[in-house]
Amino acid sequence: MRKQIAAANWKMNLTLQQAEQLTNDLLSTNHKMGVEQLAILAVPFPYLTSIQARLKNNANMFVAAQNCAATKNGAYTGETSTEMLESIGVQYVLIGHSERREYYNETNSILTEKVNRAFENNIHPVFCCGESLNIREAGTQNSYVETQLKESLFHLNKDQMNGFIIAYEPIWAIGTGRTASSDQAQQMHEHIRNVIAIQFGDEIAASISILYGGSVKAANAADIFSKPDVDGGLVGGASLIAADFATIINSLK
Ligand code: 13P
Repeated sequence: MRKQIAAANWKMNLTLQQAEQLTNDLLSTNHKMGVEQLAILAVPFPYLTSIQARLKNNANMFVAAQNCAATKNGAYTGETSTEMLESIGVQYVLIGHSERREYYNETNSILTEKVNRAFENNIHPVFCCGESLNIREAGTQNSYVETQLKESLFHLNKDQMNGFIIAYEPIWAIGTGRTASSDQAQQMHEHIRNVIAIQFGDEIAASISILYGGSVKAANAADIFSKPDVDGGLVGGASLIAADFATIINSLK
């Protein structure tokens, strides 16, 4: 069975002390996870090792980087390579978050390189896709997301796609309090799974985890996650509150 995943994206928030406190608070909440359920915390780079150490007794909880370099190593001041992430034991990385696409001009072809670097260093990408409000209003969101997937993922082989993680985050629902309805999420997730099935086959499509992101809260997570093609969430604001994120973990199927 494919993994059900509650992923937190802390973005550029919290001091180290606040981040450690949040992690301790989360660990002391009453959250339960089965063998096919995971929690992944995408924390700022400087905190990866500290938060990872705090999670070490929790078999189903992992840290993720929020980004990685598209290049292997060398004279790229300020960048963090997947080789560096692997060397500190990081196993997941967010790739292609809409904030990175928008503010740092990350194109589908740059993201292809980032996905390749992740695989070279045995790190699981959490590949983000999703359309803007203009595209949603024009009704062309399905083909837009399909192009994002084609241009960044279709060069991969079946082994790489087996169990792959995709996060669908409609930009109009991020940080706006305006969530996609659970039916809108289901429609897009089903479309994504079909696109993957056509390229890689039904078995691979059934193995991938598709997370929904965009104003997931403690109060709406269970409804969104109840949909058959929604395998959990990628959560911004609500992941900064331990009790809320614990409720979101407990809402996984
Ligand atoms: P919010 O949950 O704050 O809307 O953020 C979603 C997001 O961007 C997660 O990556």
